[in-house]
Amino acid sequence: MALLLLLPFLILVGSAGAGDGEGDSAPSAATALFVLGDSTASCAATTLPLNLTTSFSSPCVFHHSGARRRLIPDLLAAKMGLPPPPAISTLNGTAAAAAQGVNFGDSSDIDPRAITNAPTNNNAGVFRMGAVGQQLRLATETLQLLRLESPSPAAAAAALSSSLFVVSFGSDAYARLLGRGTEADAWAPKHGRRGFARLLAGRVGRAVQELYEAGARRVAVLAVGPLGCAPRVMWEGLHLVDNNAGGGCVEEANELVQAYNGRVEAVLDELRPSLPGADLVFCDVYKAVMEMISNPGAYGFEEAREACCGLGPFGGTIGCLTREMACPTPQGHIWWDLYSLTGTANSLLVDWAWAAPPSAASNLSNLCRPVTLQQLAGWRADNS
Ligand SMILES: *[C@@H]1O[C@H](CO)[C@@H](O)[C@H](O)[C@H]1NC(C)=O
Ligand SMILES: *[C@@H]1O[C@H](CO)[C@@H](O)[C@H](O)[C@H]1NC(C)=O
Ligand SMILES: *[C@@H]1O[C@H](CO)[C@@H](O)[C@H](O)[C@H]1NC(C)=O
Repeated sequence: MALLLLLPFLILVGSAGAGDGEGDSAPSAATALFVLGDSTASCAATTLPLNLTTSFSSPCVFHHSGARRRLIPDLLAAKMGLPPPPAISTLNGTAAAAAQGVNFGDSSDIDPRAITNAPTNNNAGVFRMGAVGQQLRLATETLQLLRLESPSPAAAAAALSSSLFVVSFGSDAYARLLGRGTEADAWAPKHGRRGFARLLAGRVGRAVQELYEAGARRVAVLAVGPLGCAPRVMWEGLHLVDNNAGGGCVEEANELVQAYNGRVEAVLDELRPSLPGADLVFCDVYKAVMEMISNPGAYGFEEAREACCGLGPFGGTIGCLTREMACPTPQGHIWWDLYSLTGTANSLLVDWAWAAPPSAASNLSNLCRPVTLQQLAGWRADNS
């Protein structure tokens, strides 16, 4: 009898002890947000000279309101009660400036070869932090600086392990790969369009591992959205669009992207057992954006196909070059320009990734898995 009475107590003690890998039973809310990624994650290219003769316009330069188009890191930081993570290029090299997080991303003209560290001759000298490896080096150096300037090793470990790391690669690389033209053709045969998924997912997996070794414990990896529905791909692949299936997108492109997404989720599943104390989350951006495209009206969108800023069919022929090209109501559009989402779509995406949306959109309940970004950031709904 006495044993039976004791049992619930033992279970409680046991569960409080479980999972305290860092010696702290209650998950502490993240006080910093570090971001590695491509143009889905950073507007840093706005501060750099842009080559507007290329078809890759920056998604952030010419918002019609003149305001910075809001990207995922800024929106996520707001959820966490943090300022937008400053771009690495704006920091002054002190730990204080990096303490609440850093955006290592950069949306400058990225060659997919840069991601795989293969030799590349074009764009030589172009400021290109988009490469996974280069951003990783900057990130590990920054974390090292934070460690050195921390009052104690324990304090440093605690701060790093509670920080949220977001990794968002693949969109620029796939956009380039899917693009028609000599660059994609010249690059694709080497690994094959399909082989690229394995290559990039492996690179992202290694990045997660290296971040872990540098002290990161909470890492979210974002999937690539349905680029087969993006204005540029729609324009180039109009003849491939099957209007009777898949909501009228270029299915071949979506399948390529989905292969990467599936691969990168599998890589995270494989990594978990070998990274004790780490919380690795996969966020299915593809599913979220597809839901917006399938039910635009339900989320207040008036236009699910056309870019807000661009020329030609779907606004996919020429990207956003001037402020005047932008539509009067970007908030009614899902796509901002050739490949990138509007701030409204990003905002919805972050809402869903942060906390599971209401039951109406039950398909989105496990958008980020195994836990929501809110849970990953230590903002337990019950104790935040
Ligand atoms: C801009 O890009 C185009 C096409 O890629 C190239 O021909 C041109 O030399 C570039 N200009 C500069 C200033 O880099
Ligand atoms: C560096 O930036 C941080 C944060 O903006 C600021 O507090 C600090 O004074 C700056 N230090 C130097 C040496 O400029
Ligand atoms: C869930 O997704 C399926 C197919 O992807 C779709 O047919 C269905 O309407 C969605 N359900 C909800 C509640 O959104």
